[in-house]
Amino acid sequence: MGIVFNSSNFHSDRASKGRVLVAGGAGFLGSHLCDILLREGRTVICVDNFFTGRLENIRHLLRYETFSYVRHDIIESIDLPVDEIYNLACPASPPHYQANPIHTMKTNVIGSLNLLQLAAHYQARIFQASTSEVYGDPNVHPQPEGYWGNVNSFGPRSCYDEGKRCAETLFYDFHKQHGVDIRIVRIFNTYGPRMRPDDGRVVSNFIMQALQGKDITVYGDGSQTRSFCYVDDLIEGFHRLMYSPRAIHTPVNIGNPGEFTVRELAEQIVAMTGSSSKIVYHPLPVDDPRQRRPDISLAERELGWKPTIALKEGLQATIAYFERQLVRPSGELAEVA
Ligand SMILES: NC(=O)c1ccc[n+]([C@@H]2O[C@H](COP(=O)([O-])OP(=O)(O)OC[C@H]3O[C@@H](n4cnc5c(N)ncnc54)[C@H](O)[C@@H]3O)[C@@H](O)[C@H]2O)c1
Repeated sequence: MGIVFNSSNFHSDRASKGRVLVAGGAGFLGSHLCDILLREGRTVICVDNFFTGRLENIRHLLRYETFSYVRHDIIESIDLPVDEIYNLACPASPPHYQANPIHTMKTNVIGSLNLLQLAAHYQARIFQASTSEVYGDPNVHPQPEGYWGNVNSFGPRSCYDEGKRCAETLFYDFHKQHGVDIRIVRIFNTYGPRMRPDDGRVVSNFIMQALQGKDITVYGDGSQTRSFCYVDDLIEGFHRLMYSPRAIHTPVNIGNPGEFTVRELAEQIVAMTGSSSKIVYHPLPVDDPRQRRPDISLAERELGWKPTIALKEGLQATIAYFERQLVRPSGELAEVA
């Protein structure tokens, strides 16, 4: 079993060779990243405050001697000798990041600052999970990395969007001022097993509603488009960027350029689950982007990366995961959010 630390006593003088800190490692994406790093024989320390992360996402990793986790909030400083840092710590879904917007901003700004200081101190390479939200409601379509975005600094999504933009700036400045070896991925909508059933993101919402026979709630008229990347493709992109032979110190879009309307997604999920759910329409939330699609030419050219998993295939795996979450040992469906 892995060693379980808590932040008050966690400090180690062990040789730091090959030690990777994954902030947000108990979350949806972070836990998949930990899987890969451990399979490759790395020593992984997951640092998480468990706000949206769950122990069940990492329980299977406790059998690795090379895995440990620490309950810690990255807005507090941390001192661990490490060689690499992945910063995925931040709630990603609007209901969660809007629940305490000041804390979300602190996580993105003070949390990133703390991890960058750690990277500078131990000369560790550091990776930032940024987001397509830095493009806001884009006027350019699809979005290349050179597009500066159309972001509202004064609204309910701003704590996340502007927080992530500020984090990118901090990464830039630590690279320029202290020579820190940075990598930045701008993640576009990603889905897959280990999303929370109550996550509030479109794929998990629709699947949960379909499986429970509830109305499928589409915001707006459903004509807004999104691109959906399956988690395995995304993590492969992380890996290629972090370990690419030529260091890329500028942001790189990783996402699936296949574009679907939200209504199409709802219809596909209803069909695949064989659900009797009806699609119902609610008012669009404030600042909801109309269109989102990554331009991935940089990732294709520099990393030889492009997504390989089609929406239908990814949805099958994700639906199967949520079915397992819902079915109690008795075989009954459990009510989730
Ligand atoms: N999934 C996506 O589609 C997507 C898209 C764009 C960006 N991202 C980014 O990727 C990262 C991971 O997203 P996810 O989908 O896995 O979300 P998630 O909410 O499942 O994971 C975030 C993890 O960070 C932890 N966390 C939050 N605040 C923290 C803090 N202050 N200190 C320590 N831990 C903290 C949470 O407990 C959780 O385990 C986030 O930074 C998110 O902004 C994700």
